[in-house]
Amino acid sequence: AESFKYQGNKGSGGELHQKASEKHPTMTTAQGCPVSDNQNSLTAAKRGPGLLEDHVLREKLFHFDHERIPERVVHARGYGAHGYFETYESLSQLTCADLFQRKGEKTPVFARFSTVAGNKGSPDLARDVRGFAVKFYTQEGNWDLVGNNIPVFFIQDAMKFPDLIHSAKAAPDRGFPQAQTAHDNFWDFISLTPESMHMVMWAMSDRAIPRSLRFMEGFGVHTFKFINAEGEENYVKFHWKPKQGMQSVVWNEALKLNGADPDYHRRDMWESIAKGDYPEWELGVQVFSQEFADQFEFDVLDATKLIPEEQVPVQIVGRMVLNRAVDNFFAETEQVAFCTQNIVPGLDFTSDPLLQGRNFSYLDTQTKRLGGPNFTHIPVNAPKCPMAHFHQDGHMAMHNPKGRINYEPNSWQEHEHNPRECPTTGYKSASEHTDGDKLRYRSETFADHYSQARQFYLSQTAIEQAHIHYALVFELSKVEHLAIRGRVVSHLLNIDTTLANEVADGLRLQTMPEPAQAAMPTRDDLPTSDALSILKN
Ligand code: HEM
Repeated sequence: AESFKYQGNKGSGGELHQKASEKHPTMTTAQGCPVSDNQNSLTAAKRGPGLLEDHVLREKLFHFDHERIPERVVHARGYGAHGYFETYESLSQLTCADLFQRKGEKTPVFARFSTVAGNKGSPDLARDVRGFAVKFYTQEGNWDLVGNNIPVFFIQDAMKFPDLIHSAKAAPDRGFPQAQTAHDNFWDFISLTPESMHMVMWAMSDRAIPRSLRFMEGFGVHTFKFINAEGEENYVKFHWKPKQGMQSVVWNEALKLNGADPDYHRRDMWESIAKGDYPEWELGVQVFSQEFADQFEFDVLDATKLIPEEQVPVQIVGRMVLNRAVDNFFAETEQVAFCTQNIVPGLDFTSDPLLQGRNFSYLDTQTKRLGGPNFTHIPVNAPKCPMAHFHQDGHMAMHNPKGRINYEPNSWQEHEHNPRECPTTGYKSASEHTDGDKLRYRSETFADHYSQARQFYLSQTAIEQAHIHYALVFELSKVEHLAIRGRVVSHLLNIDTTLANEVADGLRLQTMPEPAQAAMPTRDDLPTSDALSILKN
């Protein structure tokens, strides 16, 4: 109570003036000029016009006017925290990644959890996929594991991502709705994109309304590669398992929470860290060889498929503890820039066509969102290991090379700043043989869109299956164009007839559609413009 006691004085006009003192340093402008009056602007007379000369007022308004930066084009709403990752046992036989070499090694991390479709001010309990992004500040650079709380994705190729997101976000004419309730554009796109069916099952399940960020799993989704010091390669999938267990709310709880406390998830994270109940996840890996990949019934490069844990068990390799809230939400949570291309020696990408596109997209969008190429200078994005390169200049350059050398090779032997490449410890990509014609391909090994959707649906308990029925009926009943509802049900028929019947009944469909053509659709299989004409307006 003492700290709230009013300590200021009254100004000549009777308004409150809180003055600098031993406890309160003198306020300055951003240029360091001490401020004498933070309440009254400079005017030509007591009741006269303001003066252009008032540098204090102009600077204050100018800075306020520029406070906003673009929100993320997806995953705009998120919440982050600091912590550490602890390696349980050395994984040196699988990877030379520095963070996995030593038992007990602790690597600092920053994690950000998010919803995908809503804007920055959207409610936490939207039915949506949750982002699960972790930046590991390793001794050999930052490794970003930019995952979701669902192990598969809606699409197989980055080419479709802008369309997927356009369809899920506000329609361009009316400016609503977002993911909170479904709408025609989203379900239209989904119904014309059979590869999305597996992810749709997860998104309609309880996984998409987690009780809090602490109670959800995380997945790297794509297949990556581990490379060890001998150059031996294995495939790897990453999993986060919450020590708190996995919990969800039910849909009517989600709706009430969204109204009563739209910040429910972030508040829960803040409070649990504040009271020392630190959220914790274990990191698991599924490691498998080329031989396994070759005999697996799906393509390991297809992000709409997972590797069942029964076939390749998840090996727990460490834990992440989040034990420190941010000092400043904007500086850290808003400015953090995760990117799938941030990788370290001992790890590599695969040719998953979704991942390949992501590797471009994050850096590209962050260059705009964070105002130029120097956002690695922002403390939350800066590596915590030594850095040495010749990047220079650009907006907000804060760490330009010291001295005369800013190129390589050069003839200067001794100099404070003169880094050179290192063939033994430097990053090396996994080897890969490729041979073929340059074309726009979709591999036939990406064709089966329903089997894993069915496996997921059948793996659910009766209550969980009922929640999927309700969710689909609720979401599709918001779709105004009946043909779209029918087209979604035609896909459900390929997943499970009970599911399709439940949803058709719930929607009061007049006629049951034919099952969608199960083979990979070609351009000719998609509804013709005649069939689509029903959707006009
Ligand atoms: C954020 C693109 C697929 C997880 C973003 C952002 C973009 C983007 C542009 C905003 C980044 C920023 O402004 O900092 C894409 C593209 C994809 C794709 C082009 C497919 C081709 C995925 C997938 C996952 C994922 C499959 C999960 C495995 C995330 C997460 C964030 C994010 C977690 C938020 C990161 C944060 O907390 O700042 N994505 N994304 N994205 N994406 Fe993706």
